[in-house]
Amino acid sequence: MKLKLFSVIVLALVLSACGNKQNESQPAAVKVDVPKLYQNFCISCHGNQLQGGQGPNIQKVGERLDEAEIIKRIQKGGGGMPPFQVTMKEEELKALASWLAGLK
Ligand code: HEC
Repeated sequence: MKLKLFSVIVLALVLSACGNKQNESQPAAVKVDVPKLYQNFCISCHGNQLQGGQGPNIQKVGERLDEAEIIKRIQKGGGGMPPFQVTMKEEELKALASWLAGLK
């Protein structure tokens, strides 16, 4: 479990460092329903418009954090946010983080 978590972080770092070069070695994109994921796991604290509530406003979180940092935040939680590494599949985590990282 520890090892798997580590490899996810490494993968995310490698991907963000090398851009598109990694694509050949990746499996075909898995369809992930990002809005549904957000609804299931995040909406209660970050609001239906990402405007915040118990958690901070994350409407422009991509200006502050990149995908790897968001993945880390979702996996580890902290500061009142619960960790989600067990609840979410790797590809879900990545899709959600990549969507958030694009919000600028
Ligand atoms: C139980 C409430 C709660 C839930 C559920 C929750 N969060 Fe959070 N989140 C927080 C709090 C509180 C913070 C601020 C923590 C801090 O002060 O560092 C936070 C911080 C964040 C940050 C960092 C924001 C920044 O500007 O630094 C991101 C990104 C984030 N959450 C994403 C998510 C995502 C994605 C989900 C769903 C998978 C989620 N959160 C679910 C409470 C929550």
